[in-house]
Amino acid sequence: METKRLLLRRLTTDDSERIEELAGDYDVAKSTLNIPHPYPKGSAIQFIENIFSAEKSEKIIMFAITEKESQLLIGLININLSAPYKRGELAYWVGKQYWGKGYGTEATKALLEYGFNQLNLNKIFAASFTSNPGSWRIMEKVGLKYEGTLKQHVARFGQFYDLAYYGLLKEEFEKEIQKKSLDNK
Ligand SMILES: CC(C)(COP(=O)(O)OP(=O)(O)OC[C@H]1O[C@@H](n2cnc3c(N)ncnc32)[C@H](O)[C@@H]1OP(=O)(O)O)[C@@H](O)C(=O)NCCC(=O)NCCS
Repeated sequence: METKRLLLRRLTTDDSERIEELAGDYDVAKSTLNIPHPYPKGSAIQFIENIFSAEKSEKIIMFAITEKESQLLIGLININLSAPYKRGELAYWVGKQYWGKGYGTEATKALLEYGFNQLNLNKIFAASFTSNPGSWRIMEKVGLKYEGTLKQHVARFGQFYDLAYYGLLKEEFEKEIQKKSLDNK
C-alpha cells in the first residue's frame, strides 16, 4: 500500500533487527501494552514468526511502515481481527526520531481504508492511554469517534492507565467519503 510518503508492506524476517532498534526505545514501548522492555536481543524474529502464524489464522494483519525516501522501516501498524463481528482493532508505533511528521496519521488513514474497502470490516476501533495524546489525536484525525474511557483498565510498568476507545462504522466511513466527494464537486 502506498501513501504520499510511505510504503506499507508485509513484514519479513529481515526486519527483525530494525524492529529491535526502534521498538527497543523505552519511549516507544511505554505507551503500548505489548512491546517488551528491555527488548530481548534476537527476539524480534520470534515476534515476526508469531505474526506470520497469527496472519495465517486470520487473527491479525500487520504492515511495516516504511519511508519511501529512505526505504527504511520506521514503524509497524496492524489490525487485530474479530472475524465473527467483522471488527478490527488498530494498533501502531512509529520510531521516536520519526515522531511529529504526520507519519502515524498517514499510515493509519491507509489502514482504515484497507480495513473497510479490502477486508470489508463493519467496524474499526482503537484504544489509547488517555495520557498518550499522540495516539488519540491520530484516531481523531482519521475520523474515528470517541466512544468512552475505561478507568485504570490496564497497568504498565507498575502504573495504572485509563484507556480511551475510539471507533468508526463502515456506514459512517462511507457517508464521510460521499460527503467529501460532493464537497469536491
Ligand atoms: C503515537 C504515535 C504513533 C504518533 O505517531 P506520529 O507519527 O508522531 O503522529 P503524527 O505525527 O501523525 O501526529 C498525530 C497528531 O498527534 C499529535 N502528537 C503527536 N505526538 C504528540 C505528543 N507527544 N503530545 C501531543 N500531541 C502529539 C500531533 O501533533 C498530531 O496532531 P496535530 O496534527 O493536531 O498537531 C507515536 O508517538 C508512537 O509510536 N508512540 C509510541 C507507541 C504508541 O504510543 N503507540 C500507540 C499505542 S495506542
